[in-house]
Amino acid sequence: MVTGASSGIGAAFARALAECGYDLLLVARREDRLRQLQQEIGGEVVVSDLANDAGIQAVERRIESAGNVDMLVNNAGLGTKGRFWEADELGQDAMHHVHVIATMRLTHAALPPMVARNRGAVINVSSVAAFAQTGAGSVSYSATKAWMNSFTEGIALELKDVNSGVRVQALCPGFTVSEFHKAVGMDVSGIPKSLWSSAEEVVDASLRGLARNELYVIPGWRYKAWAAIQKTLPRELVQTVARGSIKKFRKLK
Ligand SMILES: NC(=O)c1ccc[n+]([C@@H]2O[C@H](COP(=O)([O-])OP(=O)(O)OC[C@H]3O[C@@H](n4cnc5c(N)ncnc54)[C@H](OP(=O)(O)O)[C@@H]3O)[C@@H](O)[C@H]2O)c1
Repeated sequence: MVTGASSGIGAAFARALAECGYDLLLVARREDRLRQLQQEIGGEVVVSDLANDAGIQAVERRIESAGNVDMLVNNAGLGTKGRFWEADELGQDAMHHVHVIATMRLTHAALPPMVARNRGAVINVSSVAAFAQTGAGSVSYSATKAWMNSFTEGIALELKDVNSGVRVQALCPGFTVSEFHKAVGMDVSGIPKSLWSSAEEVVDASLRGLARNELYVIPGWRYKAWAAIQKTLPRELVQTVARGSIKKFRKLK
């Protein structure tokens, strides 16, 4: 199952997994886009809005009725615009539902049969934003992605405790070409080309990392280096760099 399969990284995951021979459950809201993808790679379309409980429940039920979901990619995600107190509350709520509640509940539905079979994988598509609070305009995004990392790491430890063969991964991409930035209304014209990856490169890094059972996969050497270096830097310095870049790209007044 791939959530957010209607575009970007999710569509690239679906194509790559179809090529590996998986039968896919393609989840998103835009049915036309999912049907187009289905024409290309087969699979089943599950139209659902993961920003509300009913939508999450419908997908949970599909996982339970399938009974043998071998891989779950919690990829659906969104950005929002504006400082936290100025931003639309509905957008903040939707982000927490899609990134946190849906990830938690779908993982909870998918894991028991995986653990019983001693195989399977859950990939949670997080972000490099999880490693540093990226400041104004990105508060809930960084916070929910940090939750995804913590959640994934916790489950990895529980699986290790029982010597399980089930693998989990927190995939932490940097800037990736997709519909994400346009949907947020973010001007990305100033971001250097060298910082961009294609969705296919991100998925390739993820699946190679999964084969090596890597818990954290950070595609691209620049982001790997940043994630490693920022752990060693004083928090104030990390915050200053993050604030500077966000101010430039999000153009907050
Ligand atoms: N692009 C980047 O630079 C970047 C960097 C780091 C991490 N990420 C993460 O990568 C993931 C995929 O994003 P992307 O870059 O591929 O962006 P994208 O092209 O905008 O894709 C986002 C996907 O999430 C789905 N989605 C959004 N809200 C949903 C909802 N309420 N219910 C169900 N599905 C929903 C969208 O489908 P529908 O609109 O059809 O529902 C779409 O398929 C996200 O979690 C994002 O945070 C992206």
